[in-house]
Amino acid sequence: MQLPSPLQRVEFDEWEPYDVEVYFKRDDLIHPIISGNKWRKSYGHLLKFFEGNYNGILTFGGAYSNHLIAVAAIAEKLGIPSIGIVRGEINDNPALEKAKECGMKLIPLNRTVYRNKDISELIQLYPEIDFSKFNFIPEGGGGEAGMVGCQSIIDEISLPFDYIVSACGTGTTLAGLVNVLSEKVFAVGVSVLKGEDTLTTYIKHLTKKENFEVFEGFHFGGYARTTDELLSFARRFMNLTSIPLDYVYTAKMVFAFNQLLKQGYFPKGSRIVLLHTGGLYNAPII
Ligand SMILES: Cc1ncc(COP(=O)(O)O)c(C=O)c1O
Repeated sequence: MQLPSPLQRVEFDEWEPYDVEVYFKRDDLIHPIISGNKWRKSYGHLLKFFEGNYNGILTFGGAYSNHLIAVAAIAEKLGIPSIGIVRGEINDNPALEKAKECGMKLIPLNRTVYRNKDISELIQLYPEIDFSKFNFIPEGGGGEAGMVGCQSIIDEISLPFDYIVSACGTGTTLAGLVNVLSEKVFAVGVSVLKGEDTLTTYIKHLTKKENFEVFEGFHFGGYARTTDELLSFARRFMNLTSIPLDYVYTAKMVFAFNQLLKQGYFPKGSRIVLLHTGGLYNAPII
């Protein structure tokens, strides 16, 4: 594990006229699988595991979930049993194969039951497993415990800075950042989901703070959707900076930053940190 993750100055030709200093916080380099916000969001849940009287950890995810394989890899490293409840069918995609290789027991759950996170059916199907001995980590590692480890991202940045920008799914990562930011620093979130207009309320509720803004207009059609415009921008950025991006989260974040910069959102002289939240194992742009 590479911690603290590197903070890298980024030069990109399209940003030169705007007189800002841009850095990338390379959380993607923490670990090939336990990468980006996966390590950060699991941290608080692991503290709960160690504080409680548990035998293992159990979590939830779709068949291509970054979170599921990251939890599997963490459990393998720590030598603790893990269960992954998979939404719908278990297919033999590389992510689930990797989770299995790490020793995670994968259990499929039909989509309706999964939506309600109702495990009573599982208790009947798997009487040999004592589910009460497993610490439940919510889907994506979200919630208040998920925020705890995100706070160290800010502690690791040794330079003073004015803005931090992150992709948002559930908003947990952004909330973790906002929670520990000084009032002088502003956080910008880029939602990758379509029609997700509850993020601002959610983050305000978790942090009781207002020094952030979430942009909803950069989802490119919705979760994991892309367009030629997004992909060609991301490829050009990757070629010129050698920073890899994924098409679900980080490409949309950099695209949004680029647009906002050109619209004058970031004042001249600003120092801005873009957070690389990972996602490269499942959805790299090639
Ligand atoms: C690579 C990557 N970036 C960003 C996010 C969004 O994080 P959050 O759900 O905490 O907003 C996720 C989802 O966990 C992710 O997998």
